[in-house]
Amino acid sequence: MSTDTGPAIELRGASKIFRTPSGGLHTAVRELDLTVARGEFVAVVGPTGCGKSTTLTLVSGLEEPTDGEVLVAGQPVEGVGDKVGFVFQQDATFPWRTVLSNVMAGPRFRGVPKAEAKAKAREWLARVGLASFEDRYPHQLSGGQRKRVALAATFVNDPEILLMDEPFSALDVQTRALMSDELLELWEGTGASVVFVTHDLEESIALADKVVVMTAGPATVKQVFDIDLPRPRKVESVRLLPEFIDIYREIWESLGEEVRITRERGAADVA
Ligand SMILES: Nc1ncnc2c1ncn2[C@@H]1O[C@H](COP(=O)(O)OP(=O)(O)O)[C@@H](O)[C@H]1O
Ligand SMILES: [Mg+2]
Repeated sequence: MSTDTGPAIELRGASKIFRTPSGGLHTAVRELDLTVARGEFVAVVGPTGCGKSTTLTLVSGLEEPTDGEVLVAGQPVEGVGDKVGFVFQQDATFPWRTVLSNVMAGPRFRGVPKAEAKAKAREWLARVGLASFEDRYPHQLSGGQRKRVALAATFVNDPEILLMDEPFSALDVQTRALMSDELLELWEGTGASVVFVTHDLEESIALADKVVVMTAGPATVKQVFDIDLPRPRKVESVRLLPEFIDIYREIWESLGEEVRITRERGAADVA
């Protein structure tokens, strides 16, 4: 961890305008102001197509803002840094590599000696319950198991910042809840700051310290809600708490309006 104590992530008036293939301009996000403290778990919710993934690409350094600033650990983001880990909806595993080799890939890439990388990879595989699966290939695993490999392959790099883009959306409901619990367990020991993008409000409340509601596209921050539910949490039980139901209702009032606006524009222009 770096020594300065400022926020982990800051977006200041960040906008992103894309040039479309037909030569037009498309504003994906506008004047975003967002702060993520160190060790904080922030969930970002918003209607489909509003600009959530674009926001993450700005933080990751995959894209530069057209206007405004994006800072990580107090420094302007320049390219993809090694402090940042990603988990996406699609599996990011190498299909031709075994589970162990997949999890070793990050440390090896960063020059960690093989024996050490292997030991670290095995430690993380054990933590995600895949110790006995290290010789399998990704196609020989279930969707949930592949997601566990992706989590191990991310956490093994000790990321200071974890960017997650609807990582569990493709999983069935029960596996999703299990993965959420597992993510919280893995994260709680690390001190990493998380930005977790989802269109699922329940998921966002169950996981996060703070839920950021985005407007209909082009997205900007509409409202930020603090989630004061106790930790450690188990998603299946936390969502039954009366406080959960109250905050759900409150946030839905804000989010639901943006979802309606997006729907009324028609499904045609939301990808
Ligand atoms: N590289 C790109 N070029 C042009 N338009 C893009 C690009 N990436 C995203 N967009 C557009 O920006 C808007 C926001 O997209 P995105 O951030 O993926 O939304 P979300 O993740 O909230 O569903 C969409 O209308 C999308 O079509
Ligand atoms: Mg997206």
